[in-house]
Amino acid sequence: MKGKPLFPFAAIAVVGLILMISLSFIGVTQKEERLALEGEDAVEEQQTQETVDTSDPMALGEQAYQASCIGCHGGSFDGPMGNLIGIGDRRSKEEIMTIIHEGGEDYGIPGMPAFPESDAEAIAEYLIEVAN
Ligand code: HEC
Repeated sequence: MKGKPLFPFAAIAVVGLILMISLSFIGVTQKEERLALEGEDAVEEQQTQETVDTSDPMALGEQAYQASCIGCHGGSFDGPMGNLIGIGDRRSKEEIMTIIHEGGEDYGIPGMPAFPESDAEAIAEYLIEVAN
């Protein structure tokens, strides 16, 4: 009578262990399958989001503006720190590029000398076209 009551428990423990291990394997496999499926979609999504046509100054300018200027000049070009609405009527493309590179005490804008010339030009064209 002594050893007997142990048997069902041992059996249950063994069955439980096997069940646990196999379930976790099934879980891992399912997760990998799901990731593989989602992965393809996710990669496609990222590509469509990040592809900027660098031959299009408007697209390049918009992207560079959003990356470097939007914090001070805002999504609708009206601030919080410098109102750029109608900038195309006040300043030429060259002036805007100079302001981007050199900033200026009289403007209160920090110079960004490291800004690539082509990006500065694209932003200037973008602002003249869009900020009005
Ligand atoms: C740290 C904040 C800040 C950042 C970042 C910034 N600016 Fe400015 N900017 C200012 C301030 C402040 C002024 C002065 C606004 C004024 O005098 O009304 C200004 C002025 C300007 C002017 C002149 C406006 C005018 O009416 O003549 C232009 C053009 C300009 N910024 C373009 C840009 C561009 C393009 C970028 C991104 C490459 C940029 N700024 C990034 C703060 C900033």
